[in-house]
Amino acid sequence: MDFGKNFIWGAATAAYQIEGGAFEDGKGLNIFDTFCQIPNKIDNNDNGNIACDHYHRWKSDIALMKEIGLKAYRFSLSWARILPEGIGKINDKGIEFYNNIIDELLKNDIEPYITLYHWDLPLALDKLGGWRNPEIVRWFSEYAKVVAENFSDRVKYFMTINEPQVIMVNGYQQGVLAPGLNLTVPELLDAAHNLLKAHGAAVVTLRTYAKQSLSIGYAPCGQFNMPLNETPEDIEAARRSMFSFDDPYKSVGSLVWYNDPIIFGKYPENEFALCEKYMPEITDSDMTLISQPIDFLGHNVYWGHMVSSSDGMPEIVSDPGGFKNPPHKWPVTPDCLYWGTKFLYDRYKMPIYITENGKSCLDEISQDGKVHDTERIDYINGYLKGLKKSILEGSDVRGYFQWSLMDNFEWTYGYKDRFGLIYVDYNTQKRILKDSAYRYNEIIRTNGSDL
Ligand code: GAL
Repeated sequence: MDFGKNFIWGAATAAYQIEGGAFEDGKGLNIFDTFCQIPNKIDNNDNGNIACDHYHRWKSDIALMKEIGLKAYRFSLSWARILPEGIGKINDKGIEFYNNIIDELLKNDIEPYITLYHWDLPLALDKLGGWRNPEIVRWFSEYAKVVAENFSDRVKYFMTINEPQVIMVNGYQQGVLAPGLNLTVPELLDAAHNLLKAHGAAVVTLRTYAKQSLSIGYAPCGQFNMPLNETPEDIEAARRSMFSFDDPYKSVGSLVWYNDPIIFGKYPENEFALCEKYMPEITDSDMTLISQPIDFLGHNVYWGHMVSSSDGMPEIVSDPGGFKNPPHKWPVTPDCLYWGTKFLYDRYKMPIYITENGKSCLDEISQDGKVHDTERIDYINGYLKGLKKSILEGSDVRGYFQWSLMDNFEWTYGYKDRFGLIYVDYNTQKRILKDSAYRYNEIIRTNGSDL
C-alpha cells in the first residue's frame, strides 16, 4: 500500500532562513535583521544577512528541488521585501523576486505553497507595537491583498501564519527570538487574540482578491503526543495532553488556543475558564472573523511526549528514550506522526498537511565528497511509516513537507544546526544533495510503498 495517488510530497523553507539579500533592492528591515545584531542572542552571533543566498540562487535551487523529485515547495514571503514599511508602498523588486520563483516552480511542475508570515515582521510595524497593536489586523490584511493580487493567479495554496505558538512564546513571552519581549499573561493573551483576528482577516482578504479558488490553511505547532502503552487509558491521556493545558502561562504555547477558535469559533471551554480573568474583551464579531472557514489544517511536527494515565489525568513520561541529537537535543519519536495525526483528525475532521517535519544533524562532507546522513534517513523512514499507518486507518492527511529543503539559518542556533536534505557550504554556497535527498527521491517515486 502507498500514500494514495494525490499525496503531496514536498519540502519547506522560510524567507529569513534562506534568502539573504537582507539589504538589497529596496527590501525593508524586519525584526530579525535587527535582533541578530544584538550580541549573544544567536549562536556565534550569526545572522541571516546572506544565509543561503537564495535571493540570487533561486533558479539553481529550484533545479535541485526538481532533482529531488519534489511535487511541492512550501516557502514564506518576506513581508518587508514586498512592503518595506509593512503597509503602503509596494516594492516592485520584491514582487518580481517571488514572481520569478513561482514561474520557475510551475515550469518544473512543482506546486508552490506560500506562507504569508514566518516570523519576520517588518520593523516599521514592530515599532508600532507589532502583534500587540490591534491595528495589525488591518496591516496583515493589506499585505494579504497585495499577495492575492500579485500571486494568486498562479498560486492556489496559502498558509497565513507559521507557528503562532513560537511567535508568542519565544518572541513575546521568553524573549529568546525577535522581538525579544517578556510580556505578562494578559498582554500575551491580548497579542494572541490580535494574531487570531489577523489570521481571519487575511483569509477573507485572500479569498476576496483571489484570481482563482484558493485552498487556505495555517501552520501551527504543539506536541504530537503518544501513549506509553496502547491501553484505552493511556491513549485518552495522550489525546487529552495534546488538547488541554492547566495553567494560563501555557495558553499561548498550546495548540488548542489557536485551533479551536479558528475551527470551532470558540476558545476551548475549560482552558478559557482558567484564562478568562486575564483576557481582553472579546466580541462575537471577533470570533466570526477568527473562524472564517479554512480548507486545511497544517501542523509542524518534530517530536512528541510519551504520556501515561495517572487516575485519568495525563502524565508526561520524563524520558521517552531514543536518540537525542545535538544541538537541539530533541528526541526521535517516530510514532508521534501516527498518533498525532489520528488525534488531530478525530478532533477537527479537517484535511491535514504535515507542513514541517525533519531532523537536525551535525552533518559533514565525507572523504568521498558526499554527506552520509544515515540518522536523517532513519528519522524520515520511521516518521513516514507512522504517518502511513495513520492514513491507512482513515486520517485525511494530504501531504508532507520535509523541513528543510536545505541547511539554513536555524534561528537561535545559527548555522551549526543543519536540517537540510541539501548540504550548504556557507563559505562557497556550494550545495550537495545529502544521502537523505536521494532516499526522499526514492520515497517520492514509489509513493512510499516500501515504508
Ligand atoms: C520550526 C520553524 C522552522 C524551523 C524548525 C526547526 O519551529 O517553523 O522555521 O526552524 O522549527 O527548528
